[in-house]
Amino acid sequence: TDEPLVLGIETSCDETGVGIVRGHTLLADAIASSVDEHARFGGVVPEVASRAHLEAMVPTIERACETAGIALHDVDAIAVTNGPGLAGALLVGVAAAKSLAFSLGKPLYGVNHLAAHVAVDQLEHGPLPEPCLALLVSGGHSSLLRVTDVTGDIEAMGATIDDAAGEAFDKVARLLGLPFPGGPHIDRSAASGSSVAIDFPRGLTSRRDLERHRFDFSFSGLKTAVARWVEARERSGEPVPVADVAASFQEAVCDVLVRKALDAASSEGIEDLLIGGGVAANSRLRAMAEERASALGIRVRVPRPGLCTDNGAMVAALGSSIVGRGRPPSSYDLPADSSLP
Ligand code: KG4
Ligand code: ZN
Repeated sequence: TDEPLVLGIETSCDETGVGIVRGHTLLADAIASSVDEHARFGGVVPEVASRAHLEAMVPTIERACETAGIALHDVDAIAVTNGPGLAGALLVGVAAAKSLAFSLGKPLYGVNHLAAHVAVDQLEHGPLPEPCLALLVSGGHSSLLRVTDVTGDIEAMGATIDDAAGEAFDKVARLLGLPFPGGPHIDRSAASGSSVAIDFPRGLTSRRDLERHRFDFSFSGLKTAVARWVEARERSGEPVPVADVAASFQEAVCDVLVRKALDAASSEGIEDLLIGGGVAANSRLRAMAEERASALGIRVRVPRPGLCTDNGAMVAALGSSIVGRGRPPSSYDLPADSSLP
């Protein structure tokens, strides 16, 4: 076909991802993760992540090409996450992408990590309905976005005012003695617990808070409430019902996320809600969004869990949209920008 072959590189956090797409057909999604090296620290250590990216970069590119059955010189464009993320980690991906683009004589496209979390859905569910409302929930971000054009016109309607949703999952998991990253462990543990066992607070949902923060999130109060509850249990000498705490906590997070996302979509008259980012892998969030949205006539799109967490395919997917819409390439001076909006 004459659709462009795009290679995407992702190194904003602890996953070294290399994806290859033709148009919006996924050909390869190779990934190497340094997550095990961070686990004993209870969080991602930037220097450890950067070094791991450096070691994994070339083998991961080779693995992706092998899977896709292509040679590097077949590639039409190189896309790379140039922010937001960990500065040192981003630098490794950006340097790799520049080297490839320059040596192959192919255009280079810097892409926004968060927009890539939205664009990835096209690989699974076809062209993105635009405008759509995106709920982006990851370890570093929790935002409600109005996506008019995923390659450039994205407006933030709201965001977390403290912890990100994934961060809350990770911190509560730690409190419960579950391994890092905690999101998947809470998800699994919650399956055998009761979501109504404990009534944890829903941040920024009081009438007063809604006046100023209708589309914003807050999870630090919830995290503190869980910590207090667990401490009280431990003081009383009774065992902590981990599954019940996990299920009740997860319910509180998902309830607020879904409620505000649907409110935002309705208020904008948008009928398509897209959920992306690592926390979109959460089974309760997916089920709850589906259930409540259908009652309002809103369609929900969520990529399969493996495409929700960080990967290279999402970068290639957004790169492909950028190429397809004829946007100009980035210069070879493309900076890594850890605080890209
Ligand atoms: O998007 P992502 O892979 O990396 C960032 O850009 O931050 O998101 C990682 C976050 C972590 O906080 C992790 O605990 C969370 O996504 N996560 C989950 C699940 N899978 C990953 N949270 C809840 N339930 C899950 N199943
Ligand atoms: Zn991410």
